[in-house]
Amino acid sequence: MATTQTITAALATQTNPVQSAAETSVEYREGEYKYAAYLPHYTLGRQLPLEEFEHHDVGLRADRDKKALLDSDATFHEITPAIGTEIRGGLQLSALTPAQLDEMALLAAERGVVVFHDQDFADIGPDRQLAYGQHFGRLHVHQMGGHIKDYPALLPVYRDFVAGAVDNEIKNNISSIKWHSDMSYEINGVGTTTFLALDVPLSGGDTLYLSTTAAYEALSPGFREFLHDKYATHSGFTQASVHEHRERYIREPIETVHPIVRTHPVTGAKSLYVNRLYTRKIQGLKEEESATILNFLYNHIEHGQDWHIRVHWTPGTVIVYDNRNTQHSALRDFAVQEGVTRRHMLRITPQAERPYFDAGAKAKNNKTGESKWKDTVV
Ligand SMILES: [Fe+2]
Repeated sequence: MATTQTITAALATQTNPVQSAAETSVEYREGEYKYAAYLPHYTLGRQLPLEEFEHHDVGLRADRDKKALLDSDATFHEITPAIGTEIRGGLQLSALTPAQLDEMALLAAERGVVVFHDQDFADIGPDRQLAYGQHFGRLHVHQMGGHIKDYPALLPVYRDFVAGAVDNEIKNNISSIKWHSDMSYEINGVGTTTFLALDVPLSGGDTLYLSTTAAYEALSPGFREFLHDKYATHSGFTQASVHEHRERYIREPIETVHPIVRTHPVTGAKSLYVNRLYTRKIQGLKEEESATILNFLYNHIEHGQDWHIRVHWTPGTVIVYDNRNTQHSALRDFAVQEGVTRRHMLRITPQAERPYFDAGAKAKNNKTGESKWKDTVV
């Protein structure tokens, strides 16, 4: 077992703004851990609220046939009809052309989740990772302030024996499942998101994904209609309140009202946009009515295995997912051996449009009028 050293969040007083180091039980002095530079740091202090901005999605300018992407040596495999495409061989994310990146955003919009294997992306350095993410939109900086040192828009997700060994969000729950879309309380939602493994347990720590488009399409026409003009509040306050290091919050938490059914600007497809972690109340309904409808939707979304997949992480796995029409949950099911086990991930999180509902939008790949997945080409 490696020597255990706990580094507490001592404030670095010589820098301004103040940066606080990660807590970890794993030795990460220079050179001892390959991804030491990707451990979480915290820039303390308060920042101004995020303001709404106009987003132009790169998927809109992509070739609808995705020729630049598909005419490669890679093989494309549909994980399930409703969600997920797996790409093997022939493509390195780090070497995609701008046209291929646009087409990948389109593919992620259509399929929800795109899984790449054997990628060198974890090793190309934070400057190139940042530039890659900026291709898709304005990069989000988390309200919690955790980031790669000197790179506020690169978000590490880190668990080991000390850091997050018992996550405050799950410590009083029976299981570790917390379905959500990332930061749905923000005004501009999150779009084409990239998530990758740096160091992962051999067993466990998988990520679950689901399609909220397929969940929407499974509802009866009458119930869909009922939801079409409904809006709900999403809140960042709970995330802030359960965190034991409140000084790390760099923006005041906010609440935002979003449509319950949102339209994807690239595919035109509608999806359910409520999640158990952040959604709070349906506007215009009484408390009991709102709670009943929201609980039905959460259970419906979370229990429909028809639109769920589960991905196991190995070194070199990178997932590109569209936060607009999917939800996900980490699984905190792995045994943590002090000084040895860690689950270390990196997320690059471009923001997208403010969620909207367009009743007249037609799903662009939907030839049958019912399930667009039947006509998906890859
Ligand atoms: Fe997440």
